[in-house]
Amino acid sequence: MNSTRVKSVYDNYANYYDLIFSRVLDDGRRKAIAGMDIKPDEKIIEIGVGSGLSFKHYNNSQPDFSITGIDISAKMLEKARKKASAFSKLKIDLRLLNGEETPFEDSTFDKVVLMYVYSVTPDPIKLLKESLRICKDSGSVHIINHFSNYKGNGLSLSERLLSRYSERIGFRSQFSYSEYITGLGLEIASVTNANLFDLTRIIHLQKAQNTHILTKKSR
Ligand SMILES: C[S@@+](CC[C@H](N)C(=O)[O-])C[C@H]1O[C@@H](n2cnc3c(N)ncnc32)[C@H](O)[C@@H]1O
Repeated sequence: MNSTRVKSVYDNYANYYDLIFSRVLDDGRRKAIAGMDIKPDEKIIEIGVGSGLSFKHYNNSQPDFSITGIDISAKMLEKARKKASAFSKLKIDLRLLNGEETPFEDSTFDKVVLMYVYSVTPDPIKLLKESLRICKDSGSVHIINHFSNYKGNGLSLSERLLSRYSERIGFRSQFSYSEYITGLGLEIASVTNANLFDLTRIIHLQKAQNTHILTKKSR
């Protein structure tokens, strides 16, 4: 999928995205944010923030950190803007940007969060490189996603069936853990399972251990 296609699929999803993907993916959002150990004054960026379903999981009572949310779909971002207004204590800045090429300086953010976007973005390796570039050297990148072949097993029937429709459904159902995580030589700080049947992985990477990705060729 190219970026024009991703934009159009998610612009179309915007009105009913929450209905389909709110509850079913919420355990992953909650666990990922709880596990990030956010400190006062930290700068967090969520790439592919979507309609803002994560906002309720940030601690509204200790809001001394800031969240920058970016998305490639204007309609999804519009939904996020409406939700953000209900969390007036949180510092949320929302921008229409492509996470594969952002205007942020090197080492800007303490935490870079890729929530269900790694298997959606046109070029996942470019997105990962950009995430590491804008992350501080002491910071971390958090990938929350479904991966096929996680335990080295083959594709499930649903992964195989859905893969034919990835252009229409807006994500890759065949998204191999060995290709996009282990095969890149990533040093993983931790992996946590989430969502129904433990289908989602929350992968925590420390930037300092993964700078070799910055010189990796994208697609
Ligand atoms: C499956 S949704 C996930 C939304 C949200 N993170 C959640 O937890 O529900 C993927 C989102 O990523 C956005 N997206 C895809 N590729 C992107 C990119 N390269 N840069 C910014 N946003 C992107 C899509 O527009 C969509 O809103």
